[in-house]
Amino acid sequence: DWTADNVIDEQVALIKETVGQDRVLCALSGGVDSSVAAALVQRAVGDQLTCVFVDHGLLRQGEAEQVEQEFVDATGVNLVVVDAKERFLGALAGVTDPEEKRKIIGREFIRVFEQSARDVVGDGADDGHPVKWLVQGTLYPDVVESGGGTGAANIKSHHNVGGLPDDLQFKLIEPLRALFKDEVRQVGRELGVPDAIVDRQPFPGPGLGIRIIGEVTETNLDILRRADAIAREELTAAGLDKEIWQCPVVLLADVRSVGVQGDGRTYGHPIVLRPVSSEDAMTADWTRVPGDVLAQISNRITNEVEEVNRVVLDVTSKPPGTIEWE
Ligand code: XMP
Repeated sequence: DWTADNVIDEQVALIKETVGQDRVLCALSGGVDSSVAAALVQRAVGDQLTCVFVDHGLLRQGEAEQVEQEFVDATGVNLVVVDAKERFLGALAGVTDPEEKRKIIGREFIRVFEQSARDVVGDGADDGHPVKWLVQGTLYPDVVESGGGTGAANIKSHHNVGGLPDDLQFKLIEPLRALFKDEVRQVGRELGVPDAIVDRQPFPGPGLGIRIIGEVTETNLDILRRADAIAREELTAAGLDKEIWQCPVVLLADVRSVGVQGDGRTYGHPIVLRPVSSEDAMTADWTRVPGDVLAQISNRITNEVEEVNRVVLDVTSKPPGTIEWE
C-alpha cells in the first residue's frame, strides 16, 4: 500500500545506508520539492546534512522567512543562509531582456552556491567526513521528461551536477524520484514541513525577476511583492487554491497608463493577473475566477499599492501563451 509513512521509512533506510558517515549538501530554494527532499534526508542523517539557502531577493513576500524560520523550526535542518540580494540586483541592473535575466540569475546562483558549498566542504574535510552527496528534489515527471526511465533506483551515483566546476562534484541523492507532486506534498506534511511551504504553488527559479516586465529594481520588486501578496491572499480566501495551478502576478514596469486615484490624475503601472489551471504546466487554461473575487483583488491592489492604477486579467491559454510572461 502506498502511504506517506511507508515512503518515508523506505527512503530513510535507503539514505542512511547509502550515505553512511558522509556529509550531505542541499540547495534549498523555498519550493516544495527541495524542502521535502531536505526534510527527508534530515530525518535520515540529521546533522550530516547542511542546507544552503541562497536568498536572491526575488522571492515573494514572506517566503524567505518561511524557509529561514518556520522550516528550520519544524524540521531541525542545519541551514546556511546566504544573503545575496545586493549581488543579484547589481548583476541585473539595466537588464530587461528575459533570456538575459534568466542567464544572469542562473549564473549568479551557481557562483554563490559554489562558494558556500566550498565553505561547507572545507568544514567537512576538517573533521574527516567529506561532503560527498548533493540532495536534489527531482520528481517522477522530471525523470520521465528527461528520459530517465521508470526504474525504482531512487539514488543515482556518479552524476555530474550541471553548472558546478569539475573539482566540486557530488553524487546525487534524489529521494523523490518515484513520486508525483501530490505524493510529495503528503510526504512533506507527514514530515512536518509547514503548510505554507507544502501548499506552495510552482514558482520559477528566477522568481520575481521574470515577473517584472522591465528592469528588476528594489522599487519594482517592492511594488510587485505587495500586489502579489494581495492577490494570493484573496484567491486563498475565496477557496480557489485547489482550482488554480498557479497565478503569476506580473508588473508591467515598462508600461504606464493614465488613471484617476483619489483627487488626481495618475500615471501608474498595470498589474497582470495570470491565474491558470493545469495538470503539469505543459498546457494550461486560464482559470475562470469569479468576477467578485477579481473585483476584490483589483480594488485592493489599486487602493493599497499606490504605484498601480490598473489591474488586467490574462485570458490566454497555453499554448499559445506560456504561463510566465518572460
Ligand atoms: P512556462 O512559462 O514555460 O512555465 O509556461 C511552465 C512552468 O515552469 C515554471 N517555470 C520555471 N521553473 N525555472 C523553474 O524552476 C524557470 O526558469 C522557470 N520558468 C518557468 C513556470 O512557473 C510554470 O510552472
